[in-house]
Amino acid sequence: MNSIHVWQTELYDKKMDYVSEFGKDVVEVLSPKKGERIFDLGCGTGDLAYQISIAGATVTGMDLSSQMIDTAKKKYPEINFYVGDAESFKLDQQVDAVFSNAALHWMKEPKLVIKCVWDALKTGGRFVAEFGGQGNVEKVIKATSQVLDRDCGIDASSLNPWYFPSLAQYSTLLEQQGFRVTYAVHFSRPTKMTDGENGLNIWLMGSADDFFKGLSIHEKKKAINKIAAEASKELFKDGAWYIDYKRLRVMAIKI
Ligand code: BEZ
Repeated sequence: MNSIHVWQTELYDKKMDYVSEFGKDVVEVLSPKKGERIFDLGCGTGDLAYQISIAGATVTGMDLSSQMIDTAKKKYPEINFYVGDAESFKLDQQVDAVFSNAALHWMKEPKLVIKCVWDALKTGGRFVAEFGGQGNVEKVIKATSQVLDRDCGIDASSLNPWYFPSLAQYSTLLEQQGFRVTYAVHFSRPTKMTDGENGLNIWLMGSADDFFKGLSIHEKKKAINKIAAEASKELFKDGAWYIDYKRLRVMAIKI
C-alpha cells in the first residue's frame, strides 16, 4: 500500500491552486466526451474531476487521502468520490479513460498501478496522465538532503516519498503491460510560488513532510530555514521562489 501523506486541504487549495490550473491542460489532452465514463486517479480535492464532468462525462474520483476526499465531496456533491489505493483498486465497471494529474509520483509501485489502470479500462480505452518526471524538484531535494545529512544526521534518500521516472522508464512499463504509448513528453515547468520569501518554506511544510518525520516542530522549522538558505541561490529570484518542476505527460491506449 502507498504511504499516506497527510494533506492540509485548505493549504492545498489556496497555495497550490496551480496544480489544478496546469491540470486543465491535461484535461485538454484527455479530451473528455459526453457520455464517457472516466476515472480520476488521485483526484485530490476534485477540481479536475469537475472540469471533466463539465464536458458531459460521468466521472468517479479516487484518492488515498480521506482529507482530500472529504473536501472533494463538499465542493462537488454531485460527483462520486471515494478513498482508495491506486496500487490495488478494482472497478465494478470498466471505463473509457483513466485520468491522473500530479498524483502518480506518490505511488512507488508503478507496475501495480499500471496493472490496475489496465484492468479498469475497456479495450481501446485511454490512460492520460501527468506527474513528476525524472529530475523533478531535484534542487529542492538536493538542498533538503544536504541539510538533513549535515545538520541532523538523517539519510534523506531513505525518506524520499516520490517516484520520478524518465520518459523511457515509464513508457517501457506501460508497454510491458501491453499499452500502446501514443504520446509522451518530458518538460520543465519552473513554477512561481506565492508568499514571497516564505514560498519554499510553505511548499516544504505542505508537500515534503515525510522528510521531517523524525524531527520536532522546532527542529523541522530550523531545518526548513536552512534548506531555504541552501536553495536560494538557484531557486529564489526577484522576491519569489520558483520550484523546479519537471513534468512527464503520457497517453497510452489499451489494445
Ligand atoms: C509535483 O507535483 O511534482 C510534486 C508535488 C508535491 C511534492 C512533490 C512533487
